[in-house]
Amino acid sequence: MPFKDLREFIARLEKEGQIQRIKEEVDWNLEAGAIIRWANEKGLPAPFFEKIKDYPDGYRIFGSPLGTQKRLAIAMDMDPNASVKEMQEEYLKRKQKPIKPALVKDAPCKENIYLGDKVDLLKLPVPFQHLCDGGRYLGTWHATINKDPDTGWANWGMYRHMLQNRNTLGIEAGPYTDFGKIHAQKYLARNKAMEVAISIGPEPISTFIAASCQPYGVSEVDIVGGIRGEPLKIVKCETVDLEVPATSEIVIEGEIRPGDEMEEGPFAEFTGYMVTLRCPRPVIRVKAITYRNSPILTMTCMGMPVIDDNVLNEVSLAADLKEVLLTRGLPVTGVSLFKEVCWTLAVVAVKVPYANVASDIAHVLWASRAGFALTYIIIVEDDVDPFNMGEVFHALATKCHPYKGIVRLEHATALSYEPWADHHERQYRIGARTYFDCTWPLDWGPADMPIKASFNNPKVYPPEVQEKALAKWHKYGY
Ligand SMILES: Cc1cc2nc3c(=O)[nH]c(=O)nc-3n(C[C@H](O)[C@H](O)[C@H](O)COP(=O)(O)O)c2cc1C
Repeated sequence: MPFKDLREFIARLEKEGQIQRIKEEVDWNLEAGAIIRWANEKGLPAPFFEKIKDYPDGYRIFGSPLGTQKRLAIAMDMDPNASVKEMQEEYLKRKQKPIKPALVKDAPCKENIYLGDKVDLLKLPVPFQHLCDGGRYLGTWHATINKDPDTGWANWGMYRHMLQNRNTLGIEAGPYTDFGKIHAQKYLARNKAMEVAISIGPEPISTFIAASCQPYGVSEVDIVGGIRGEPLKIVKCETVDLEVPATSEIVIEGEIRPGDEMEEGPFAEFTGYMVTLRCPRPVIRVKAITYRNSPILTMTCMGMPVIDDNVLNEVSLAADLKEVLLTRGLPVTGVSLFKEVCWTLAVVAVKVPYANVASDIAHVLWASRAGFALTYIIIVEDDVDPFNMGEVFHALATKCHPYKGIVRLEHATALSYEPWADHHERQYRIGARTYFDCTWPLDWGPADMPIKASFNNPKVYPPEVQEKALAKWHKYGY
């Protein structure tokens, strides 16, 4: 059964030993961030802060809701010990059966309603996460919603929101995101204000899918229904023409007016480094805040992996990349984005159909929305398990020609978060990309083909020798 709301999810995590309730008072200023960071770096249960300095009893912060594979598996209502491969398969299977949301009238997120002059974002325990950040960040684990004015399609995403003042929030949404495209091409171009709603603390699948990369025009809320196997309950906002998950802990409504910008950033990011520049970025003028009684503010504390971002991308983004390649007829057998690394590096396993297929794989991915952030792609043959980091590194160290096998695209787009990029590249989102071809060249003759010296290779140990060795295994004393 899918979780009705975040509170049910938290109760289940507690049963599974995936939450640490913290009754000791914790400071919103760095202390909460430091605790989440330590918990992430050590793979510990998610901290649930019950007493926040300067805030009344009842205001809670929940850190790193999907920061371990177990927590994501539980959110998906799967076996907590499911493998990444199983989770990818399940995600793709359920995604193929989207379910429309159910619009409701009464919703828990309306228990407290503050409009106009009554709006005060500082009533929420907005954390200051890292000493190097440009401000307090309210939005680091949530769903931000905007609408295409021509089609009415509601786009869901996750973009950081820096607190500017009591009724103003910043936003950093890249121009390659659907949010960025709608904003620039459909509102700014027509000199119109764009309505925005932010749902903080909905049931867990809403945030999982908001952060995933779905193609333009695909309804994320229907996919949330598909993954849940049940319609998501949504409710109309008070002041904007948008709908939000009915059980959201906190909802923020507002608009981005043309040319209305304030200094934003920097912020420590998913790459593990603080690199984004402080510069003028759009702001959301907040018109309403609604929230549940005793609201729970969800947050991640970005930084060195493993964080929620890495965990979900290893499942959804990698599965989506695989689908992109299969749709183009490329016979890939697996795609992985190791959560311990960073999702700018993908590994693709392929049954090599023709010479230089690695080039096609890399270029198809780089041209896709889902593969936009890939700086590095490692292409291995299907005898390498792409989910096994040791096997992947072995292929890289032994099968990739140090000159011909490393192919660079010298002029490319980039995210602007890349730690290796210089100031100019970050400012204009330009960079470079590389793929590593770890497949044997098809134009080598059989005599040139290296023989894999492993137990299972019949060219090294004929089947009868393998069978005999295994049959006598215990007799050898093992
Ligand atoms: C925790 C977290 C924070 C994120 N912050 C940002 C951000 O500040 N800006 C951004 O452009 N993308 C950010 N992303 C990535 C986007 O959410 C992701 O690319 C999403 O697919 C965008 O949706 P859209 O293309 O439908 O707009 C973040 C992802 C996660 C998991």
